[in-house]
Amino acid sequence: MELKNHFVHELHQYLQEYMTKKDIEQLIEIPKKPELGDLAFPCFTLAKILKKSPAKIAEEITFQISNNYFSKVVAVGPYINVFAERKPFTSKVIHEILNKNLSYGNDKIGHNKTIIVEFSSPNIAKPFSMGHLRSTVIGNALGKLAQKLGYKTVKINHLGDWGTQFGKLITAYLLWGNEEKVKENPIEELFKLYTKFHHESETFPSLNEEGRKWFKKLEDGDIKALELWEWFKNESLKEFKKIYSLLGIQFDSWAGESFYTDKMEDVIQELKDKGLLQTSDHAEVVFLEDYNLPPCLVKKSDGATLYATRDLATAIYRKNTYNFTKALYIVGHEQSVHFQQIKAVLNEMGHEWAQEIHHIPFGLYLQEGKKMSTRKGRVILLEDVIEEVIQLAEENISEKNPELQNKTEVAKMVGVGAVIFHDLKNFRMNNIEFSLKDMLTFEGDTGPYVQYTHARACSILRKAPIHDTNKFTLENLNIDDYSWEIVKQLHVFPEKIKQAFDRFDPSIIAKYLLTLAQHFNKFYGQVKILEKNEGLVFRLALVKAVTIILKEGLNLLGIQAPEEM
Ligand code: ARG
Repeated sequence: MELKNHFVHELHQYLQEYMTKKDIEQLIEIPKKPELGDLAFPCFTLAKILKKSPAKIAEEITFQISNNYFSKVVAVGPYINVFAERKPFTSKVIHEILNKNLSYGNDKIGHNKTIIVEFSSPNIAKPFSMGHLRSTVIGNALGKLAQKLGYKTVKINHLGDWGTQFGKLITAYLLWGNEEKVKENPIEELFKLYTKFHHESETFPSLNEEGRKWFKKLEDGDIKALELWEWFKNESLKEFKKIYSLLGIQFDSWAGESFYTDKMEDVIQELKDKGLLQTSDHAEVVFLEDYNLPPCLVKKSDGATLYATRDLATAIYRKNTYNFTKALYIVGHEQSVHFQQIKAVLNEMGHEWAQEIHHIPFGLYLQEGKKMSTRKGRVILLEDVIEEVIQLAEENISEKNPELQNKTEVAKMVGVGAVIFHDLKNFRMNNIEFSLKDMLTFEGDTGPYVQYTHARACSILRKAPIHDTNKFTLENLNIDDYSWEIVKQLHVFPEKIKQAFDRFDPSIIAKYLLTLAQHFNKFYGQVKILEKNEGLVFRLALVKAVTIILKEGLNLLGIQAPEEM
């Protein structure tokens, strides 16, 4: 924030003996009550260093600061508070937003650097779970944030399409399956077969042996096994793609676990050559005591590979292919140990870039306090859940705005936006109560509220007598407190984007949008925006700037912003 920089610079002149610019910057706060100032510097830390009272220090320093950017500097108890000179600041911010439009906040930090974002990654022949939904939504937002900062991104859907479970599934299908039924309802039917397998194998453990054999065949390239596997995969993909299309999400690569089948031998060889592989209980493992981690299982006694083997091959392949700066894996927290093991093994292999692999975990969806699952007795498809939300959104919209033209289209944007926002407004590690009612209200901390605020602002602009908002001047104007709060909020958008990406936390953007929407709605309630007087062009420019930032902010979360709703 520019204003903050000026403040830091001023303070630093007097404090350089005691504090770095960075220290000062970290201490600066925004006063809870805007009437007390735009920024505040607390003097407690200094008081300890100087052995003086903080209020005394505040007074002494306040006395010395003068800067064109500040209209007022005051000591408030132990704080030094500054008020910005509103006009030059406002003019600069609003003009910049209007000129740059949706590219306001774009950055070059990521220039020539590639970020891998691996997300969603559902398992073939199993329902798309609520966990996969979270991964999808969080990963998509992180990808967009990275792009906004200038990074090239590679968005990868690491499909769970390999592993012993496919041997089991093939066994189950050959024993009990029915082609017609699978074609009709692929995921439901395949999942039933899989569940039946587990159930039956408790009584007939020899089934497990059969399943292992079929997976071995699959790994050895047996035609029949491959045919069935491919069929299961294609049917599942059709279902998953319906969900991605509803959510408006695209991937650059669908290379899942099976993609690495022919790339694992090299890894195993490298591990051997580097003396890292040891035999334990007939299996080949890498011991990781130094990391306080359980051994990483690389090869089973029958020669079959494991999830971890595939992830080692995956990471190395990605580094060689994309030369990534960072690789983000958006996967539930129950896999934390697995990713620690992968990083540790890569590190043992001498791959320093292992530290640029980031596992980004998240919490659960709850329903009435209990873990929510997409399968309860029968399979509930996520697609149906989303369709239901869209349906409810349409009912809400019809009630509010019966005349709206493209209702179905808008309902889709609002329904999907509601689901995504409901997820992203919380810090990702928190568990989330999945409540259709809460996510869809137009008032409150929801996606529809932000979308509605955007639509309201757009409607003001449609009604306005002037459309060229770029040429406002502030010479004879007072910037009222409502406008001022908006301006300050707009100004921190670029900073919020950086923070959200640095912390891998899209909720920073979601919360930001809620605050901006609230400030805008206060302004809307208190100020006659369309009144014909000398402030009109400026007010319209401000409204226009708000539409730009709300739209772009929602876009970063993967949410559309209808102009009418
Ligand atoms: N398919 C896995 C699951 O649903 C997630 C894959 C995570 N990514 C990875 N590279 N291991 O649990």
